[in-house]
Amino acid sequence: MSPISTQIAPLFRTMNRVLLLLVLPGLFSAQAAANGKILHSQKCMSCHKLEVYQRGNRKVKTLAALKARVSGCARMNRTGWSAQQVQQVIDYLNRSFYKFSVYQ
Ligand code: HEC
Repeated sequence: MSPISTQIAPLFRTMNRVLLLLVLPGLFSAQAAANGKILHSQKCMSCHKLEVYQRGNRKVKTLAALKARVSGCARMNRTGWSAQQVQQVIDYLNRSFYKFSVYQ
């Protein structure tokens, strides 16, 4: 009979993989949001402060509207951001202020 550890080891390997799958996307999006914060402070703070994202009557009500507003503002203000950089700023604003579900 094989020792119990050899029977349990494969189970642990599977569990580790599942855990990695659960944790990695969170790490990537935290990193993206950190980049987004830098990009945002470079190009987006000249007209409004962070209050504009926190005011009670803020305009943006959905994740789709946030995406549209950020890409519109990025283009209008000639940031020269790539699609990935625009997405990082969306991640930053959503994580820090709007908190829309990304699974809608
Ligand atoms: C030239 C000035 C200017 C710059 C630069 C600017 N914005 Fe804005 N933005 C505004 C104004 C003015 C408003 C408020 C409009 C309103 O009250 O309807 C606004 C509102 C917003 C809102 C909506 C806030 C809400 O009510 O929910 C978002 C999101 C936003 N800006 C993102 C950005 C991002 C991202 C950048 C950088 C790429 C940026 N803005 C740069 C002028 C600017």
